[in-house]
Amino acid sequence: MPGPVLEAGTDPVLSFEGVEVTYPARLGVGPFTAARDISFEVRPGEVLGLVGESGSGKTTLGRVAAGLIPVAQGRVVLSGTDLAEASRSRVRELRRDLAFVHQDPAASLDPRFTVADSIREPLDVHGVGDRRARNARVRELLEAVRLTPDLAERLPHQLSGGQRQRVALARALALAPKLLIADEPTSALDVSVQAEVLDLFERLQEELGFASIFISHDLAVVHRIAQRVVVLRAGEIVETGPVERVFADPRADYTRDLVAAVPEPKPAARPRRKRLVS
Ligand SMILES: Nc1ncnc2c1ncn2[C@@H]1O[C@H](COP(=O)(O)OP(=O)(O)OP(=O)(O)O)[C@@H](O)[C@H]1O
Ligand SMILES: [Mg+2]
Repeated sequence: MPGPVLEAGTDPVLSFEGVEVTYPARLGVGPFTAARDISFEVRPGEVLGLVGESGSGKTTLGRVAAGLIPVAQGRVVLSGTDLAEASRSRVRELRRDLAFVHQDPAASLDPRFTVADSIREPLDVHGVGDRRARNARVRELLEAVRLTPDLAERLPHQLSGGQRQRVALARALALAPKLLIADEPTSALDVSVQAEVLDLFERLQEELGFASIFISHDLAVVHRIAQRVVVLRAGEIVETGPVERVFADPRADYTRDLVAAVPEPKPAARPRRKRLVS
C-alpha cells in the first residue's frame, strides 16, 4: 500500500542518523570503518552534493543510501521507513524509488544489452505497462537524454563515453525515481562532454524534480549542481551547509583548502539559475 502523499519540501526523502559503516575483515586485512557518525538528510527535489578526497567515503555512503551495504550503527530512513526494520517486500518497494548512476557508465550497462534493452529492463523487471507502453517509454527516455532513436539498437561498446552515460541516466530515470544517487557521473568523461552531461543532469533534475545525492571530488561541479553540500574527510563530515555559504565562507580548514584548489574563475562568480526548491 502506498503511503500518504507528502507535500514537497516536508519530510526528507532520505535521512542518515549517526551512521557508521564498517567493512568486514577479509584476507588477513582487519575490519575497516569507512564512515563514522554521519547525519544528513535529503529533502524532496533537492540536490545534495557529497564531496571529499579519494577514500573519504563518498561511494560508501552512496551505496548505503541505495541499501547496498548495511550500517554498523545508526539509521538510514528512506521515505519514512528505517531500512533495517523494513520487510523485504517494503525494501523492494522502496528500491523502486531509488536509482544509482555509476562513475563508469560501462558498470551500469550490460555489454550484451542494446541501448533500448538497457533502458527497458527496469520497466520489464517491475512489470510496468505492456510491451508497447514500455517501448514508448524507452523512446521518451531516449529523447529526454537527447539521444537519437537510431542509437536504440546499438551495444554499449558502439557508443561514446558521453552517450553511454546518457543511456545510464535514461535507465536510472526509467521508473521516475524519487532519489537519484549519482556517483561521480561525469568524472570518466572528457571535459567538454562532462559539461554536456552536467547540463543534461541539471535540466532533467529541474524538469522531473527528483532529489539527488550528487557525489564528486570536484567542488566546482557540486557548486553548480547542488543546493547543499556535505564535505567528507576520512569517513567523517567536516562541514555541511548551503553551497553558496560553504563556498563563500568555508568554516573548516579542509573545506577552505578544497575551495582554494578550485581553478579560477571561482564558481561563486558564476550566475546560478533560479531553482524551484529553496
Ligand atoms: N569493500 C571494501 N572493503 C574494505 N574497505 C573498503 C571497501 N570499499 C571501500 N573501502 C575503503 O573505504 C574507504 C572509503 O572508500 P570509498 O570508495 O567510499 O571512497 P570514495 O570517497 O568514494 O573515494 P574515490 O573518490 O576514490 O571514489 C577507503 O579507505 C577504501 O579503501
Ligand atoms: Mg568513490
